[in-house]
Amino acid sequence: MWLLLQSLVLMALCFPSASMCPKGCVCQRFDLHHLHLHHQGLNVNCSQSRLKEIPGDLPVDTVVLRLDRNHISAVPDRVFRGLALLRELNLSYNAVETLGEGAFSGVEATLQVLDLSHNRIASVHKDAFARLKARVVVDDNPWHCDCALQQAIGGMAHNHEAAARVLCRSSELRDQEGRPFLAVDTDLCNLAKRTTDYAMLVTMFGWFAMVISYVVYYVRQNQEDARRHLEYLKSLPSKPKKPDEADDISTVV
Ligand SMILES: *[C@@H]1O[C@H](CO)[C@@H](O)[C@H](O)[C@H]1NC(C)=O
Ligand SMILES: *[C@@H]1O[C@H](CO)[C@@H](O)[C@H](O)[C@H]1NC(C)=O
Repeated sequence: MWLLLQSLVLMALCFPSASMCPKGCVCQRFDLHHLHLHHQGLNVNCSQSRLKEIPGDLPVDTVVLRLDRNHISAVPDRVFRGLALLRELNLSYNAVETLGEGAFSGVEATLQVLDLSHNRIASVHKDAFARLKARVVVDDNPWHCDCALQQAIGGMAHNHEAAARVLCRSSELRDQEGRPFLAVDTDLCNLAKRTTDYAMLVTMFGWFAMVISYVVYYVRQNQEDARRHLEYLKSLPSKPKKPDEADDISTVV
């Protein structure tokens, strides 16, 4: 009997079950009524746990994950992959500064709520929210409104709702600073393109002006030469051949 118990404990240690709770978190099972295969979900509550990063050993059957009110500064690419049942993710009140292309890869299909409010997010990869079906909360972040943000929001399912809550701390567009993202209806991607187009135009105009002035100078110079030549010819005593030559020159001029 004692031996059996011992081996059971040993087995539990050697093969940690899928639902081992990460350190500092509280895990609770709850009933999921509308999923056929999994009748129970796992609520993983890591709220206010002084976490500096996202735990690497999150249970695979996590459905609700609360990581709010910690000191998490980064969301590494593919950190939530394997959490095939994740529906709700709360990362609010952390220190996240930016989001890469693959931050939420693996949970695009299942995630329904993503709370990123009260972080330090200024910029995101243009595809950070691509394919996400979730309602994304992005309030209270020091957003820098630029082309990438416009593309990221454009790719969201509930983009209008998210965009309405983005306040531009800084922006590519001066008059957008301190104002809601939606207040200025300008294509920020075209703006960047237009700036380079403008530089190209100025450069091309510069070259063109140089060529034109050279041509004008050249023509003037030639005119001068021709006139002098003509005057010289007129001053010569006239011979039968000369008027022809003079005619030729005036045609050229
Ligand atoms: C999660 O944990 C926090 C802090 O430990 C607590 O205040 C909160 O009530 C918990 N929430 C749930 C849904 O268990
Ligand atoms: C996330 O957690 C914060 C508290 O830390 C709470 O105010 C907020 O409502 C939660 N977000 C969602 C979507 O439940």
